[in-house]
Amino acid sequence: MSPEPFLADLVLTGGTVVTGMTRYRADIAIKDGLIALVGDPSAMPAARETVDVSGMFLLPGAIDVHVHFREPGYTHKEDWRTGSAAAAMGGTTTVFEMPNTHPPTRSVRELRQKQQAAEKSHVDFGIYGLLAEDNIDELQGLIDGGVNAFKCFMGNTFGNLPSPSTGAMLEGFEIIAPSGLRISLHAETASIMAWRQKRLMESGRNDPLAHIAARPAIVAAEAVSRAAELAEWTGARIHVLHISSAAELRPLADAKARGVEITGETCPCYLLLDSRDYERLGSVIRVNPPVREASDSAAIWQALQSGVVDMIATDHAPHTPEEKTRSIIWEADCGFPGVETQMPLMLNEVAKGRITLEHYVKISAENPARAFGLWPAKGRIEAGAQADIAVVDLDRTETITASALHSRGKITPFEGVTVTGVPIHTLVRGRFVQRDRRLVEETSGWGKQVTAIQQMPAARPCNTDQTLAAVLRGPSLPSQGGSS
Ligand code: NCD
Ligand code: ZN
Repeated sequence: MSPEPFLADLVLTGGTVVTGMTRYRADIAIKDGLIALVGDPSAMPAARETVDVSGMFLLPGAIDVHVHFREPGYTHKEDWRTGSAAAAMGGTTTVFEMPNTHPPTRSVRELRQKQQAAEKSHVDFGIYGLLAEDNIDELQGLIDGGVNAFKCFMGNTFGNLPSPSTGAMLEGFEIIAPSGLRISLHAETASIMAWRQKRLMESGRNDPLAHIAARPAIVAAEAVSRAAELAEWTGARIHVLHISSAAELRPLADAKARGVEITGETCPCYLLLDSRDYERLGSVIRVNPPVREASDSAAIWQALQSGVVDMIATDHAPHTPEEKTRSIIWEADCGFPGVETQMPLMLNEVAKGRITLEHYVKISAENPARAFGLWPAKGRIEAGAQADIAVVDLDRTETITASALHSRGKITPFEGVTVTGVPIHTLVRGRFVQRDRRLVEETSGWGKQVTAIQQMPAARPCNTDQTLAAVLRGPSLPSQGGSS
């Protein structure tokens, strides 16, 4: 018996579907935002619209678990409309947005504010809640209120949110662990950096390379080790953001080998730039953690191939030209936009033969979808999944320039780089948000907050009888002395 015929909303015909394992020629039928059918052209239903994508590759849209869209509070740098437009142009269909806005996303009240700002989004999104020294009592409310993950700034960075003590972090991990929500870490140890920066400033260093000197890789290695211990103790799931060094790969790999529920991401700047670029780029290259040595990027490439590093994200962190080009390095804002350039930069590495297209799908879509509870609804092109698709032309070349970027903060260290491989259409739940290299303006507001598909329990039972909450509940020791 053949299935009931149906009218599809859209058929993409003539393309090659790419998964984390393989690629094959297939047409795709989309209905009500979902992929209804993947298969031979002869099997396709009638459709309201058919788009010829012959010669193109169909990738699951990138899932970028690390963007800063700045709204509320710093909208001179970016807002949800411009940030999500940049994502749409870059083939990214889901973003997870960071809490170092103003106000920071520290309780349900600010979560609601952020959800309201995000109503303008072109692409789907998750929202991070903050785990800090002063909002431990708000964490359960944030969980119940619908955050998608947590962010913990173990080191100082833009926004100057005070880093939690290890004590506060432990209690935070205890509270979050049972929810199964992942805690993403800015893993740099604040006290080491504050000490070294003070000493460097006293000595008169204010050149770009002093930024690396203030934040040597031990700050990352120490922070990853400590966070992994807390995760192992509590059963919390954790994610190491922006991996920048060879040194932090060891505690990451060790923790994975012990069964700690830990994932890691790196960003294009740590793969494609190194200390030799500081002279050319000056303060523009300043980012936390810093771009390091060529030997670091070589080790990160290898870890990405072997699976120790799970995914690529961008740490999309736009600032204005004035904020990025201050002559004293300590005063230049850290970070740069990335959500629009990640896919072209990485496809360019595919063109060079440094990574396969299949492996790129794994690190840009499949692995983030799995780690953040979106799999199997997102991160793959198969019947039943949401139709989040980047249609990619692997032969098209483009030059990255500030004037072409959709982000409000346009200063990027990749200015002037010519790439081969560009997403020419982006679909979010079946709708074109980018078409033929043009933003579809009227899709502002189409993006929706994602919900976890998997009910994720704690990675392993935590030491529940020793949590601060359990200890505070008692039992206390039988009273001694007193009546005797
Ligand atoms: C980020 C920012 O500007 O918000 N800056 C950065 O250098 N990476 C903050 C962060 O992710 O550390
Ligand atoms: Zn960070």
